[in-house]
Amino acid sequence: MRQHVNPLSSNFSQTERIPSLSEMFSDSKLNLHLDIGCACGEFLFDLALVNTSWNYLGIEIREKLVKNARLKAVKREIKNLYFVFGNANNILNDSQSKFIIENLKSISFYFPDPWFKKRHYKRRVIQPEFIDILSNLLQKRSLIFIKTDVKDLFDYMDEIISSNFNFKTIDKKDINYSESFNPNKVKTNREKYVNINQIDIFERTYIKI
Ligand SMILES: C[S@@+](CC[C@H](N)C(=O)[O-])C[C@H]1O[C@@H](n2cnc3c(N)ncnc32)[C@H](O)[C@@H]1O
Repeated sequence: MRQHVNPLSSNFSQTERIPSLSEMFSDSKLNLHLDIGCACGEFLFDLALVNTSWNYLGIEIREKLVKNARLKAVKREIKNLYFVFGNANNILNDSQSKFIIENLKSISFYFPDPWFKKRHYKRRVIQPEFIDILSNLLQKRSLIFIKTDVKDLFDYMDEIISSNFNFKTIDKKDINYSESFNPNKVKTNREKYVNINQIDIFERTYIKI
């Protein structure tokens, strides 16, 4: 089993230069989706290849995965997909990245690292300060998607997002998937594993009001 990377380690306190949207994508005007903790990016490759009217951005803390994903995107000449390396909290807390949040239509936190011990909760990617930043900068009607197979983590994330007055839960039946970042309901690697092993999934979507 892989060792979780500690996002609070000083290795991640410096963030790399974030390119502009027009450096990342061939058409920077397309709808933008951000996937936090995208691992090797397979989910985003599946999405970007089919949904060419969206741009997809992945942030991942394991540098090697980001290097490989970037090379793969260049080799396959995929122009609506980009990967950034680092701790998503540090990257998006940095004022140089404000434009990313301001341009998002949606953001996904799919199967984030659970950090089971209470003293490690600060390492979880969803933190109140982070959700405050999203709530201040996201456009109205932007969506946040969360999914996990860890009930305690689900409750923790849900409590933080729901207690922010700028986000409201939206019912699954009210989500127009065909116009979302994932019209074909593509699954992440973790979700495929969880489905095969018949483990429960806890998920919720929030809209910025
Ligand atoms: C359990 S994996 C899930 C990967 C993928 N989302 C999926 O559903 O298959 C969690 C991923 O989040 C990454 N990660 C954890 N904390 C992060 C952080 N603060 N910033 C960016 N990536 C992070 C991990 O390295 C790992 O690749």
